[in-house]
Amino acid sequence: MTTTFSNTDPGLRRFWHPVATQEAVAAANPLQVWLLGEPWVLARLDGELIALRDRCPHRLVPLSEGTVVGATLQCKYHGYRFDATGRCVHIPAVGPGGPIPARARTDAARVRLAFGLVWLTTDPDPIDSDFSESPYLDSDFDTFLAGPFTTAVGAGLITDNFMDVTHLPFLHAETFAGHESGISDLHASRDGWTIRQRTPGLLADESTGAPIDVTYDYIVRAPFSAELKITYDDGRSDYIWSFCQPETTGRTTWYMVQAYGGLHHDGEMIDRAARTQRAVGLEDLAILESMPDPQIPIDLTAEVHTKGDRGCVRYRRMLRDIADGALTSAHTTDIDRHQEHIRG
Ligand code: FES
Ligand SMILES: [Fe+2]
Repeated sequence: MTTTFSNTDPGLRRFWHPVATQEAVAAANPLQVWLLGEPWVLARLDGELIALRDRCPHRLVPLSEGTVVGATLQCKYHGYRFDATGRCVHIPAVGPGGPIPARARTDAARVRLAFGLVWLTTDPDPIDSDFSESPYLDSDFDTFLAGPFTTAVGAGLITDNFMDVTHLPFLHAETFAGHESGISDLHASRDGWTIRQRTPGLLADESTGAPIDVTYDYIVRAPFSAELKITYDDGRSDYIWSFCQPETTGRTTWYMVQAYGGLHHDGEMIDRAARTQRAVGLEDLAILESMPDPQIPIDLTAEVHTKGDRGCVRYRRMLRDIADGALTSAHTTDIDRHQEHIRG
C-alpha cells in the first residue's frame, strides 16, 4: 500500500491554516468550520473574532447552533454562555451567581486575518509560514479569489499540483500556456519548511496569442501554502497564492488568491482573469479527482520523478518529515494563556 500524507496528520497542528473567507465570517455569526478532522466555531463577540472548539461541554452539541449574546456565545440547547476564552460564564439552570463547574469550558484557538481569509491555529507557538501580504495590499494590484473549491483531493496533492510546472502545456493547453515546450529547466531548493523553485516559462498573449517569456518563482511553505510570482520581460509581476484548508481526511477547501498588476482596476478585465483562473483550477481538480485515492504519496518509490519534478520531490520529503514526527509539539494544548484576538 502506498504511504500517503493525510489531511489530519498530527504534525499539522503546528501550523496556521485558512478556515474561511472573511466574507463568510461577515455573513454568518457564529460560523462552523472544519480543520484537521474537527469542527470549530468562529464568532464575533462584541466585534472581536474568536474561535472555540465547536462542542458544548454540557451535552456535547455544536455551539455553532447557538447565538451570540453580547460578548458571549450562548448554546442553543440549555443556554450556557461562553466567553472568548471558552470559559462558561452563565448557566441558566443554576441562576445568577450560581456555581459554574470548572469543567464547563471549551478550548479556544487563535485566529488572524490575511489574504482575505481567516486563519486558525491550536498551537501556542506555531511555525511561521507567512507570506508577505504587500502585493495583495498594494492598491496598484487588483486582487480576487478563485474558488473556494471544496474537494475530496488531499491538501498535499493540491499544493503539489500548484507547484508542478510540467503539466501546464498539457492539462492547461486550452486555458493558457499553449506555447510551452514542456522541457524543464527548473531549479529548486529547500530551507527548513520552505521550498523555492524557479523556472522560465511561456505564456500566450491574451489578444494576439503571441508567446510571452516569463519567469515563474515559487515559494512553497509547509504544509499547504504556496506563492507563484510571474515576472514578465518588462519587469512587471503578477502573484497567485494557493492556500488549502485540510478539513477532514476526505475533504479539502482550496483558495486561490490573485494579485494582478495589469488589469487597471477594470471590472471586466478582472472578471475575465477570475474566470480564467477558475477554469484553470477546475482543470486541475478534474484530473486529480479522477484518481481512486487522491492523496499525495510520501514514499518516493511510489511514483516516477524526473528533473522537472525536483521541487515536487522536495515537497514530498517535507511532508514526510512532518509525518515522521519532526514537528511533534512539546507544548500542551493549554493555549488560553496565549490567547490572541483580532478585531473583525
Ligand atoms: S448542551 Fe449546551 S447548554 Fe446544554
Ligand atoms: Fe494546474
